[in-house]
Amino acid sequence: MTTDAPVDLAALGEDFTRDPYPVYAELRSRGPVHRIRMPEGADAWLVVGYAESRAALADARLSKHWTNASQALNFSRFPTGAHMLNSDAPVHTRLRKLVAKEFTPRRVEALAPGVQRITDGLLDAMLAEPSGRADLVDSLSFPLPISVICELLGVPFLDREEFRRFSNDALSSTDRARSEEAATQAFHYLTDLLERKRAQPGDDLLSALIRTTDENGDRLSPDELLGTVWLLLVAGHETTVNLISNGVLALLRHPDQLAALRADYSLLENAVEEMLRYDGPVETPTYRFTTEPLDIGGTVIPGGGELVLVALADADRDPARFPDAERFDIRRDARGHVAFGHGIHYCLGAPLARLEARIAIRSLLDRCPRLELDAHPAALTWRQGLLIRGPHRLPVRF
Ligand code: HEM
Repeated sequence: MTTDAPVDLAALGEDFTRDPYPVYAELRSRGPVHRIRMPEGADAWLVVGYAESRAALADARLSKHWTNASQALNFSRFPTGAHMLNSDAPVHTRLRKLVAKEFTPRRVEALAPGVQRITDGLLDAMLAEPSGRADLVDSLSFPLPISVICELLGVPFLDREEFRRFSNDALSSTDRARSEEAATQAFHYLTDLLERKRAQPGDDLLSALIRTTDENGDRLSPDELLGTVWLLLVAGHETTVNLISNGVLALLRHPDQLAALRADYSLLENAVEEMLRYDGPVETPTYRFTTEPLDIGGTVIPGGGELVLVALADADRDPARFPDAERFDIRRDARGHVAFGHGIHYCLGAPLARLEARIAIRSLLDRCPRLELDAHPAALTWRQGLLIRGPHRLPVRF
């Protein structure tokens, strides 16, 4: 059961941002559902624990559509909002099908040589630094995913700094005005991008999404196309950055695991799954709203658009599902983690994220045989907000 007063996460300060896991574990020991006050200010219901989180992610009574949010939450429609992650079935089914038809495993596999080329170029630049020091976020984790998405979408030039700013701002759930402003700027930016692509189509995903139709002649409307491109840009970038950063950080903090991986790269695939489980990039995924009362482990969350958050970060550290869950172990069976979500909104870009992480981490370790952390872990500062988890900077010595 929950207590009446919400747990004020903001009051927990930097300690919570740096290491939220003990707080979630403490809540889990008390039950699966808690009333919380988010760092962003609004009150919400937080689901913790593996079984309950997975069930909530797949529960159709939790809507992703903003019109189902309680009026008290004061949500409005974003101009870039018409996409699958904001939709429920059957609209979701339709949108996902149209996009999945073009964003195929084959298209992802074809990106592998490009991912390797971009990684090599970034590492060349990093290793040319005479001090032998770098910020890995700046040198690799940030530029790789954005360059790969440009390649995927067929955008020859995306102003990275501009995009970084409005993508970061749009996800800054701590400042709603900033995030709305960023979405409006993105709307203008992407409208222009789509016009250019219509005039000059290629064999890229963006051109494919512009012309795709299903067997019934259905296609993405201009609004949906724009929303989808925004979703792919943001979902594919903010998250992958932090898979690389958090994953490398976990290795550097566990030298025995790093040595085991260097000695046997057949462990790499599993190591990336363990990085996702142990310290995944999405702490709590996007908002869900109750459409009717929901009983989770004896606590009833009222209907009527209550905001529900699912702590993926906690689900993947639940010892009831992953024995010795606090231990980073690249040999464990990490399958079944929920770092990519679960249910109908399961991450569409998971194969691409895995491909990028494997190439980036393998190449980094190969080229930097003496890679070390160049800061005390406690000195790292972390992204604010409950959505994305990752350090702002990751100083390394190579
Ligand atoms: C490590 C990297 C990534 C992680 C951890 C991640 C995580 C997630 C999660 C947790 C969800 C579900 C959100 C929810 O249920 O509220 C999701 C959905 C989604 N992701 Fe990813 N993601 C990653 C990379 C990518 C990439 C590279 C792309 C595409 C370029 C992508 C595209 C999407 C899309 C389109 C959805 C919406 C799916 C739907 O609503 O049906 N993601 N992702």
